[in-house]
Amino acid sequence: MDQEAARKCILIVDDTPENIDVLLGILGEQYKIRIALNGEKALALATVEPPPDLILLDIMMPGMNGYEVCRRLKGDVALSSIPVIFLTAKGKDEDEAMGFALGAVDYITKPVSPPVVKARVETHLALDDQKCHLESLVRERTAQLKKTRLQIIRRLGVAAEFKDNETGMHIMRMSHVCQLLGKAHGLRDEHAEVLLNASPMHDIGKIGIPDDILLKPGRLDTEEWHVMQKHTIKGALILGQHSSEPLKTARLVALTHHEKWNGEGYPEGLAGDDIPLAGRIAAIADVYDALISKRPYKDPWPQDKAVDLIRGEAGKHFDPDLVALFLKHLPEIERISVRYADGEELRPGRQAESGVNEETT
Ligand SMILES: [Fe+2]
Ligand SMILES: [Fe+2]
Repeated sequence: MDQEAARKCILIVDDTPENIDVLLGILGEQYKIRIALNGEKALALATVEPPPDLILLDIMMPGMNGYEVCRRLKGDVALSSIPVIFLTAKGKDEDEAMGFALGAVDYITKPVSPPVVKARVETHLALDDQKCHLESLVRERTAQLKKTRLQIIRRLGVAAEFKDNETGMHIMRMSHVCQLLGKAHGLRDEHAEVLLNASPMHDIGKIGIPDDILLKPGRLDTEEWHVMQKHTIKGALILGQHSSEPLKTARLVALTHHEKWNGEGYPEGLAGDDIPLAGRIAAIADVYDALISKRPYKDPWPQDKAVDLIRGEAGKHFDPDLVALFLKHLPEIERISVRYADGEELRPGRQAESGVNEETT
């Protein structure tokens, strides 16, 4: 960066040209200066890119006064972080209090002392630099933490796959369909993203199912089936109680992805809206993808047949409103299937654990 570009920019706002001349004399050599003779012009100049690094603001001006200018600057997210120093003849305590209450970093009374103006401007620019640096450090560290946390969560999902018949691609497709259905349902992007990151762990509880049941080639007897159903509760136990959204949602999905809208699911037999939304969404995404996937115990279903089953289960297995959204967004769901198509050989046969899979495949 050349020296000129590196020079900080100060916006001076004052309706009296003599005052501006004085400030130009004090600061003009060291800084780039923008000048506004009234409040409206000040707001306009504050939005010119790159924004000024600091604003020296007179209070008593015809039209919009300095307090109002400051109020508007602080109310605009794009401008609110620019430090404002009031520079005014209004020297009463209440005037100063008002200035600070509006968010100014400093208050200098006229007539000004050049060394004081210079020193205060320098100090506040340095403080602002420091603040920006710390904020960017915090942002960077927070992003790193978030990334690490998501990686750990995803690796947990991978751990579950080692004991499961489900391929990594099933997890990818299923979690993307969860995100899509969440968005279609009206969730904000960040909440739909939580679903994307949480749903891969829906079957983490299978880690806790004995191999002789999980790997049994034939049908499970009643007792074994009961043990198998426990993967929901075990999943919730493994994931534990947390305040972090992805883990909280992951726990809910693990616990409730086999509940059914009509109350005939497991582990608790919850019905309707008592089933958390994340669980209702995961149920559709999981079953649909299981149907169209090749599994060691079944061929993939054609998409039409799988869609018919989902449609037919509206109000029985699945939330009817979510089924309607599923049908509305079928083209996007199909794109997800193509994008994350299975590319690797399936592992040896494992048990199905979804009611629909079990009864229909
Ligand atoms: Fe499951
Ligand atoms: Fe699954």
